Amino acid sequence: MELDALHDLAREQLPRGVYDYYAGGTEAEITLGESVASWQRWRLRPRMLRDVSTLSLATTLLGTPVSMPIGVAPWALQRMAHPDGESATARGAAAAGTLMTVSTTATVSLAEVAAATEGPKWFQLYRVKDPAYTDDLVRRAADAGYRALVMTVDLPFLGRRLRDLVNDFQLPEGIEMANHPPEQAYGDRALTRALDSIATATWTFDDLARFAALTPMPVVVKGVLRGDDAQRCLDAGAAAVWVSTHGGRQVDPAIASAVALPEIVEAVGPGVEVYADGGVRRGSDVLTALALGARAVFLGRPTIWGLAIDGADGVRDVLTELAAALQLTMALCGVTDVADVPADLVVRAG
Ligand code: FNR
Ligand code: LAC
Repeated sequence: MELDALHDLAREQLPRGVYDYYAGGTEAEITLGESVASWQRWRLRPRMLRDVSTLSLATTLLGTPVSMPIGVAPWALQRMAHPDGESATARGAAAAGTLMTVSTTATVSLAEVAAATEGPKWFQLYRVKDPAYTDDLVRRAADAGYRALVMTVDLPFLGRRLRDLVNDFQLPEGIEMANHPPEQAYGDRALTRALDSIATATWTFDDLARFAALTPMPVVVKGVLRGDDAQRCLDAGAAAVWVSTHGGRQVDPAIASAVALPEIVEAVGPGVEVYADGGVRRGSDVLTALALGARAVFLGRPTIWGLAIDGADGVRDVLTELAAALQLTMALCGVTDVADVPADLVVRAG
C-alpha cells in the first residue's frame, strides 16, 4: 500500500489522542513539516549505460549484516498501536532482514523483545529512575543480545507537544513502560508527565564516555545536528553518530536532518558510520541520504502506521516496499551498490 494511504488508514483507526501523540511534533511543528520536504530539496543526477541488471542493497551497520540500508528507529509505547507492540515490530524488521532499535520506553520488556525474534536489535537509552538502574538496564540489554547502545541525547527535557497538552492525553489502560521499575511502570497517566521521567537533563559528554566504558556494545549517539558535537561524541567514545531531530518532536524550529547531514559527515571524516532519520519516505530520499554520506536511514512514523494497520506484516511491508523503491531509483540512476553511491549523484534543487 502507498505510504500516504497507509497513514490515512492509521489516522482513521487509531484513537485521536494516540494518533496525535504519534504524528505530532513540538511548538509550531515547523521542523516536522520540513523534514519530509528537506530530502526533496535535492535533485538526482542520474548516470546512464551502467548495467544495472544486478543490484545490491545489502550492507552492514556496525558490523551487523542487514538486507537494506534502512532500519527501524526507536519509538515509544508501541502497544498503543498494536497489542503485540514492540515484539511485532521486531518480527516485522527481522522478516525484512533488517534491524530494529528498541526504545527504553517500550511497552514490552527488552528481554521479551529480544526473545521475540533472532533478528538484530539495538537498544535505545533514556534515563530510568536513577543512574544505577539506568546502568543496570544497559547491562541487561547487552546480556539479552542487543548489538549496540543508542544514546538519545536530544531529550534533556521533553519538548512542548501542544497536541498532547490540548488533548490532555492519558496513557490508555493497560499500557505500561515495561523497562521501568514496577513502581514507576504505570507512573503518571498524563503522557507528558509520564515522559518527563525519562528526560536526561544531567547528561553530558562525560556520561557518554562512561556508558562507552561501561558496555561492550558500541555506542551510537542519536540526535546530533552539528559537526562540532559529532566530533566531540567521537572523542568521548562514540562508535557512530545518528543525525536526527527526533521527528520534529524536540527543538522547533531545528534544521532538518537532510540539512545537517553533510556537515556532520564532513566533521567525522571517512570510516565513521553516520545515520539519518526524519521524514524519509521515498526511495529517492534514501538514495539522497546515501549520496550525502549516510550509511543508512531509519524510519519512525511509517513503521508506526504499518504496525497499527497490519502488525508485524505491516512493518515488514513498509520496509520492503521502501527497499523496492530504493532499488528502482538506484537502477534508474546507474547505481548498483548501496556501498558505492557517489556524492555527485545529488545537487541542491534550483
Ligand atoms: C519517537 N522518537 C524516539 N526516539 C528515541 O530515541 N526514543 C524514543 O522513545 C522515541 N519515541 C518516539 C515516539 C514517536 C511517536 C515518534 C514519532 C518518534 C524519534 C524517532 O526515533 C525518530 O527519530 C523519528 O521518528 C524519525 O522521523 P520520522 O521517520 O518519524 O519522520
Ligand atoms: C517521544 C519520546 C518518548 O518522542 O522519545 O515521545
